[in-house]
Amino acid sequence: MEKINAVVTGVGGYVPKYILDNDEMSRIVDTTDEWIMERIGVKTRHVLKDEERQGAGTSYLMTKAVQNLLEKTQIDPDTIEGVICATTTPDYLFPSTASLVIGNLGLKNAFGFDMEAACAGFLYAMEVGAGFICSGRNKRIIVCGGDFLTSITNYQDRTTCPIFGDGAGCVLLEGTTEEYGLLDRYMRTDSHYDPLHLEVSGSAVRPTVENIEARRHYLYQEGRTVFKYAVTNMSDAVEIIAKRNNLTNEDIAWIVPHQANVRIETAVARRINVPEEKVMINIDHMANTSGGTLPLCLWEYEPKLKKGDNLIFTAFGAGFTWGASYMKWGYDGSKFSK
Ligand code: UT7
Repeated sequence: MEKINAVVTGVGGYVPKYILDNDEMSRIVDTTDEWIMERIGVKTRHVLKDEERQGAGTSYLMTKAVQNLLEKTQIDPDTIEGVICATTTPDYLFPSTASLVIGNLGLKNAFGFDMEAACAGFLYAMEVGAGFICSGRNKRIIVCGGDFLTSITNYQDRTTCPIFGDGAGCVLLEGTTEEYGLLDRYMRTDSHYDPLHLEVSGSAVRPTVENIEARRHYLYQEGRTVFKYAVTNMSDAVEIIAKRNNLTNEDIAWIVPHQANVRIETAVARRINVPEEKVMINIDHMANTSGGTLPLCLWEYEPKLKKGDNLIFTAFGAGFTWGASYMKWGYDGSKFSK
């Protein structure tokens, strides 16, 4: 059998309507636009308000993103065979977000499941989706990444709340025997609970009144520690992938980094000597949407992408979990741009 590569053949995205700017943020916590811009690089973030979501969670964002992909690509929804949703903020532990998305869109021939690898979730989910395609088992898989991160953001903690926003993106993966698509990957996970965790969120710690009152159901982060690990690990991962595939910095068209902090993104670019113009950055108006950052970058930069462009994705999140993927882009971005 000929080798099959999994190639992206469409991109969708969605960000909620409400925009929370730094002036509003500075009325919520003791901060300033100057501090947030200088230390994080976020000007505005999208927030999913109750009026918009009407009882749904991340499935609302992902449904909209997949809807956008289907409209753009005009593919028959009945040909979708699988939906993988990378999220740390599923609507429920069960049923899965994927099953809600499948139901909302009537994807009657698709299986679906959720994946959790924190902010590296989409990177990992793309590889899992690619596995279905490369094995020849499936022809069309949608991989979603997104989070309703403001649902776990502590708006009494000024060191974390300006960082996060809500949004979701998705890609359609199909097979090709040509040398396009996901061509290599490097994925790593180690174990650091303390610097980045959500204590009341699973089977270990009960949602008692005491725990809720202590706000243990909100994301906790030791920013400085996470920052150092993020720069080192993302830079190392990109370097490994570039070297292994003989990609010089001239060969790389785009670095697609997790949008955690603009200083992290530029530090990674500097470490591997790639000019900042080649780094996808949308943190200024999207903030950190966790699983959503990579597909939302693709969604916004899609019109600029050209067939044959070498892209290196990199992400880093709680765990820690990180990695990088090498993708050769398979179509001229104008194909689906609206
Ligand atoms: O997506 C998952 C992975 N996450 C990340 O990669 C995040 C990594 N970490 C970061 O992006 C940064 O560490 C933060 C943005 C979270 C914080 O930036 P920092 O430059 O590391 O600030 P810091 O925590 O070292 O705090 C510096 C100062 C402190 O004051 P003192 O102690 O020096 O007097 C903070 O109290 O800034 C103060 N500060 C603030 N001041 C104004 C912290 N938050 C704020 C704020 N507004 N919002």
